[in-house]
Amino acid sequence: MNFLRVDDFGKKGIEDVFSIADSLKADNGIRFRGRKTLALLFEKASTRTRVSFEAAMAQLGGSSIYIDSRSSQLSRGETVADTAKVLSSYVDFIAARMYRQSMLVELARFSSVPVINALTDLEHPCQALSDLYTIMEVKKRVKGLKIAIIGDIKSNTANSLMLGAAMMGAKVSLVGPEDCIPNDEYVSKARRCSKVEVTSDIRKGLRNADIVSTDTFVSMGQEEDAESRKEMFMPYQLNEQALSYARRNANVMHCLPAHRGEEITAGVIDGRRSIVWRQAKNKMLIEKAIILYLSNGDSKR
Ligand code: CP
Ligand code: NVA
Repeated sequence: MNFLRVDDFGKKGIEDVFSIADSLKADNGIRFRGRKTLALLFEKASTRTRVSFEAAMAQLGGSSIYIDSRSSQLSRGETVADTAKVLSSYVDFIAARMYRQSMLVELARFSSVPVINALTDLEHPCQALSDLYTIMEVKKRVKGLKIAIIGDIKSNTANSLMLGAAMMGAKVSLVGPEDCIPNDEYVSKARRCSKVEVTSDIRKGLRNADIVSTDTFVSMGQEEDAESRKEMFMPYQLNEQALSYARRNANVMHCLPAHRGEEITAGVIDGRRSIVWRQAKNKMLIEKAIILYLSNGDSKR
């Protein structure tokens, strides 16, 4: 089993991951039964995902190996298929951060061990699961909440969060400029689970929102278009005015890294309604839970 897209485990699988996370929270003595190793194969930069996976493996009694694709033979033309065959003969799991989802799919096809999506241009499913778990902790439920995503509504994080949230029964509101059309496949899938509104009207999109989430205007790989993207998205900055349209007790989320003064103001991200630090912290817990879920519960006290 792999975790390449947020819907790979289904709703029941996400609930199982959350209950493993609950057990880990209640008991920090849970360890792998044998020795397990995770390879982290990264084509893009990372702070949180890399360090939280490495720390997660160490805390579970396993180990991890970070491979920057630029310093591996991938950079000299070795295929992803050959890389997958070899790496999976050494390790128990591979978490990969790649540009193209198709490359990740290729990696998974030739890997004999589970492959985890640590972010691609299309998705960031581990992030979405830790976001949803954080919402569950703070709001005590996800079902029935209104989760608004503002700014770049066709980003990897928007795709994963929109679908994951809808699968868990939340209403989703995508609020961004008219020229930013959300991914049709994700909107359609999400609409099969719940209500999904797409609007360029901030007041309407954020009205009654329980959660307002945003992400950078310039994702990794989009640096060439940075100026035009910032110009297009700037009216959709998550600032005090925008937040005033949401519920009075609405919470603010951001996967990080944040750019204060661009997609979010300092006052909002560092303000009392922000839950971004809790959100970041939960990444490690959820990654542990995902790894244990993929190990079929092969753990002990
Ligand atoms: N949120 C997140 O994935 O952060 P990193 O890019 O630092 O891993
Ligand atoms: N959308 C961002 C997320 C970073 C965690 C990016 O892809 O750069």
